[in-house]
Amino acid sequence: MVIKKTDEGGGGYTRRGSKLQNADMTTEQPFLSDVQQLRARARASLAQGAVTPAYQADVKQTIEILQSVLATEIVCVLRYTMNAIAATGLSSQGAKEEFEEHAREEQEHMRQAAERINQLGGTPNFNPEGLATRAASQYTETESLVEMIRENLVAERIACEHYRELIRYFGDKDPTTRVMLEGILANEEEHANDMKDLLTAHETR
Ligand SMILES: [Fe+2]
Ligand SMILES: [Fe+2]
Repeated sequence: MVIKKTDEGGGGYTRRGSKLQNADMTTEQPFLSDVQQLRARARASLAQGAVTPAYQADVKQTIEILQSVLATEIVCVLRYTMNAIAATGLSSQGAKEEFEEHAREEQEHMRQAAERINQLGGTPNFNPEGLATRAASQYTETESLVEMIRENLVAERIACEHYRELIRYFGDKDPTTRVMLEGILANEEEHANDMKDLLTAHETR
């Protein structure tokens, strides 16, 4: 193993196996950092936790975005919980159970966003003041079951749009946040589908 210093990438190091060196003498891409340098950098800023110098997104902005994701999820927890309790009528049992399940899953999303904010060195904002304005989804009150389902479908579709956009934004800049959002998005798509099915079932009753 030859460790060769290059002028590219701000004095980065390239580790090259002998095979690679023979096959490719001209391009000296710094594809791996020197292990010792990596270790030294990791030790130098321990207070920053998961945020290392190679973190490519703007940490402050990431935290800000995640605060809005957190608020969105809190609003979803509140809306589904209220709906699960308030839905009435003989035909509402199936919908109540669905709302209940979604409330639990939204709470899981809420936790994930809050944990990620914490990992990045921020403080998750659970302050009820201004919650609705930080959230992408809305808290809507309605008494009719069909209206509840419709409002949830709207909220889920907004969440899906919002998360798709964020996933594109994070791309390779912050793969951890992106993968987390991809997981949440898949779940929101299921939610939207559940609400669509429920709406079809209840609209025709
Ligand atoms: Fe969610
Ligand atoms: Fe959802």
